[in-house]
Formats: sequence, C-alpha cells, structure tokens
Amino acid sequence: MPDREGAIDVPFLPYGKQEIADADIKAVVEALCSGWLTTGPRVSEFEKAFAGHCDAKEGVAVNSGTAALHCAMRAIGVGAGQEVIVPAITFAASANAAVYEGATPVFADVESDTLLIDPASVATKITTRTRAIVAVDYAGQPADYDALRELAKDRGIAIIADACHAPGALYKGRKTGTLGDVSCFSFHPVKHLTTCEGGMALTDDVAMAAHMRVFRNHGIASDHRSREAAGAHAYDMAELGYNYRLPDVQCALGLAQLTRLSSWVAARQRIAALYDDALAGMAEATPLKTHKDRTNAHHLYVVKLAEHVDRDRVFARLRAEGIGANVHYAPVHLHSYYQKRGYKRGLAPVAEAVSRQVLTLPMFPAMTEADVNRVVAALHRAAV
Ligand SMILES: Cc1ncc(COP(=O)(O)O)c(C=O)c1O
Repeated sequence: MPDREGAIDVPFLPYGKQEIADADIKAVVEALCSGWLTTGPRVSEFEKAFAGHCDAKEGVAVNSGTAALHCAMRAIGVGAGQEVIVPAITFAASANAAVYEGATPVFADVESDTLLIDPASVATKITTRTRAIVAVDYAGQPADYDALRELAKDRGIAIIADACHAPGALYKGRKTGTLGDVSCFSFHPVKHLTTCEGGMALTDDVAMAAHMRVFRNHGIASDHRSREAAGAHAYDMAELGYNYRLPDVQCALGLAQLTRLSSWVAARQRIAALYDDALAGMAEATPLKTHKDRTNAHHLYVVKLAEHVDRDRVFARLRAEGIGANVHYAPVHLHSYYQKRGYKRGLAPVAEAVSRQVLTLPMFPAMTEADVNRVVAALHRAAV
C-alpha cells in the first residue's frame, strides 16, 4: 500500500516498554549471590521503600497485581453471598479477584470522557450485599475517591484501589497508595516499574497487612527465614492461603527501578503533553480527559475515535506501519466467562459504546518527540 512505503525501515514502536539499566542488572546479580533468593531481607526492604514512596504505612509484596487484589479481598473479608462493584472497563483481574473469594462482581458504568468508574452508576448498583468497591485508576488517572467514599460510608463498604496503572498519580494532592483501604499495584513489564511479574498491596491498617502476609504464604504465619532465626521447625497453617511470594531477586530489581520511578512518571507526563498538542483539533481522535483535581501517571495514552471511524481498521493500519496500537479494554462482562455466568450486554451502556472507539497509542518513558510525531502522522493517515 502506497501510504505504508518505507515502514519496514523504521523500528516497531510497542504500546509499552520497560527500561532495564546496568544498575538493575547489578542489583539482581547481587541478590542472586546473596544466599537469599526468596523470603530474604530484600522483601521487606522493597515493601518499606515502595510503601514509603507512596506515603503508605504498610506494603505487602506479592508475585502479581492480581495477587495483590486477591490479598485485598481476603483482608477486607469479601466472601460468598457478597457483592463487589467493579467498573465495566478494566483488566479482568479487577473483577476476578472477587470471584476467587466467592463473591459476585457487579459492574458499574464508566464516565465517557475518562473511562473511570462513574460514582453516579455506582450509586445505582449498591445493595445490602455490597461489601467493596474496586476503584480502578484507569490509564493512570485516579478515580473519584471522595465521591466513592461518600457512597461507601455508613454502609460497611470498603474501597479497594486498583492503582495498577497509577503509581505516582495524585488525587487532590494525595498519592495513589493512600486512597483505598487497600491499594494494589502491578509490576508487570508494561507498567511504570517492573519486577518481571510482581505486585504490592499497600494499606495503613497494620492488622490487614499482617493478614495479607500470612495469606500470601499459604496461610502460614512464619516463613523459612523467621523459623531459621528462631531456631524452630514447627509452623501452623491457620487459613487457606496461596503461594503469592515475591522472590528477593525480583525485589532487588524493584528496589533498583524504584529510584527512577518519579522520573519515569514525569517522562510519561511530558510525552502525554506532546500527544495532546499534536492531536489538538484532530476531529477523528480525542484524548481522554484528566480531571483538574488530579494528576495522571499515564500508564496508557488512550484516544477516543469519532463514531464514524472504524477502530479496528485504524488499529490494523497502525500495526502495518510498525506502531503497536492496542485496545484497553473490552468490557469485562462481555468476556465469555462472564457471559456464561449470566451477565447481559446492556448493563453498562456507556462502557459498551466507548470501548468500541478507544485506541491505546504507544507510551513509554524512552519515547522521543519524533516518535510521538510519527504516531500522530500515522494516525492521521489511518483514521481518514
Ligand atoms: C487495572 C489492572 N488491574 C490488575 C492487573 C493485574 O496485574 P498483573 O498482571 O500484575 O497480575 C492489571 C494488569 O494488567 C491491570 O491493568
């Protein structure tokens, strides 16, 4: 196709990309040689450092963001017969974590210009069975926590922050990590900071943190290191837990990466501003809005395509030009698993309509202004 001439000469631009420096490699090698590959000192070191970075009292390191959400559900006491309100637009794990504990996800609709959970929709979904609301900081922007708290208060409803997209973002000056009763982060390679796979649950509640540490270790309160220190062999499994431990080697990588987190968030914000400028006035694509009382950590840069534009055609054309566009997300309740559980199309009309028009453009700290201009030029060609 003539409009793709030369595309093979330019490198592929993925939608997200981790950055591994020599300091990361050195830290990992040191951990490998330290004698503690897992349950060692680097775990609490990483927990303290990440929690401290986010202004939270306690951090519980686990081996994925999904595990962090599952820990949060257990610590809050979500269980059978209860409901958990989740935005229809999110990664499936936000809802699955409730199912793991036997609860029923109830999908709330989203705001059409931010794709954040819509408190007005949440208000219509609350019942006497509602135990928690999962607030997803979609694309890097915190949800409206004050509005959600107002709905939750006096009803025994907890707020779980799914902040997997948003380390370093602010809501009315407060950091993500302090906004939920438990706040969950992911360290998957496309996220801001990576431990290959990994995650952390943050909370100011010391008892909930202690419970999550037991839960991530099969339901056993002691681990190899604490038994070594005590010269003891006996242990008790007090509840059914999982092996969600994050190894020391990965915590070492997380500690090294954490020193660059703030500069990565700033880089993402700079790239988002370049996109905003380059897209200004383009009728076919509108960037998502960031509310004035928040900052956006820009895990993703998402545009809404005009209704007459065929999103999947644009996606294919960008891919053909070496641009790794993506889609975040199809509504969770439309996955076949949830359809089989009886969830019906139509329960979140805004999410269902908007999800057909959203497109994620490449966003990672090492992107240059030339990369942004290349993406926007390709989008112009693809969307007309
Ligand atoms: C919003 C959201 N929640 C939860 C998760 C789960 O994180 P992980 O992949 O680390 O299990 C992700 C990961 O993509 C996510 O985007």
